[in-house]
Amino acid sequence: MSTIVFLGGGRITSAMLAGLRLASHDYRLLVHDRNPDKLRDLKKRYEVGVESDLNNAVKQADIMIVAVRPNSIRELLPAIVNAVAKTSGQTKANRSSRGRVPLAISLAAGVPLRVLSKLTGASVKWARAMPSPVCRSGRGLTAITFPRRVDAADRQRVNNFFASFGQVVEISENKFDAFTVTYSCSHGYHALASLAAAGQKAGLDRNTALLASAHALADGIIAWREGHISLESLLEEAVTPGGIAAATTSAMEAAGYGRAVRHGIDAGLQRAQANAGK
Ligand SMILES: NC(=O)c1ccc[n+]([C@@H]2O[C@H](COP(=O)([O-])OP(=O)(O)OC[C@H]3O[C@@H](n4cnc5c(N)ncnc54)[C@H](OP(=O)(O)O)[C@@H]3O)[C@@H](O)[C@H]2O)c1
Repeated sequence: MSTIVFLGGGRITSAMLAGLRLASHDYRLLVHDRNPDKLRDLKKRYEVGVESDLNNAVKQADIMIVAVRPNSIRELLPAIVNAVAKTSGQTKANRSSRGRVPLAISLAAGVPLRVLSKLTGASVKWARAMPSPVCRSGRGLTAITFPRRVDAADRQRVNNFFASFGQVVEISENKFDAFTVTYSCSHGYHALASLAAAGQKAGLDRNTALLASAHALADGIIAWREGHISLESLLEEAVTPGGIAAATTSAMEAAGYGRAVRHGIDAGLQRAQANAGK
């Protein structure tokens, strides 16, 4: 049984644990965080192991999931290096297992593999992954990327772990920021909130506006994801020339809908690039 150690027990760790709870897997799950109250809460909610001592957590890890914010990476990584050094010292002394370079997966948005490797040297093998909090339902998507140094067996281990709570896509690292910014489930929530607010303004009560908007967005997207019909054909089917949907979409486009989305994506990319220097 492999032990997955989450370093950082915040929002995304909590979502992954919820997704894992729905999955059938045989991982042993252990969380380390510097806040004892968060560890207590995660233990209670997900019945996972918790470990407040970083050295003990690292010692037990087959795979580490580094789930701290980008501005905490520079503090945590040297501590991981120390913990790995202590662990290999103990391993030699005890003549027991491990003794191999541990595999760590960083979730830190925008922080490149070269920065992670520079901060830890060769004592840790790195991969990056970008899950989303929707993985709590088991329906999410996770992008993963690897440096050349990571072999096929380790790539498979990383893939298998994220596949236990959703779809996985491997992409090259130079596409990672674009994926991160495009993939955020905040787009769906934002679109839902904006459409429902406009529906309310048009006369619907809030619940009906949310219900109609959620179906408008989600059902159309599910139809596309079923994969039988192209997006162009679906649009053609839904937008009768001269009809109401045609008037709505062309007015939205004329008011800058596409431009606003591109501005948002550009701002997200800039923020991701700023994270690389944090
Ligand atoms: N949230 C998302 O939707 C999402 C999605 C994909 C990827 N990510 C990435 O995942 C990472 C975590 O995001 P998050 O939203 O889960 O953040 P979060 O809610 O702030 O969780 C991070 C946790 O790590 C703890 N921590 C920070 N430094 C630590 C250290 N040195 N030792 C032990 N614990 C430490 C934090 O404690 P304090 O509160 O005391 O700092 C906090 O409890 C980020 O890099 C983010 O880019 C997030």
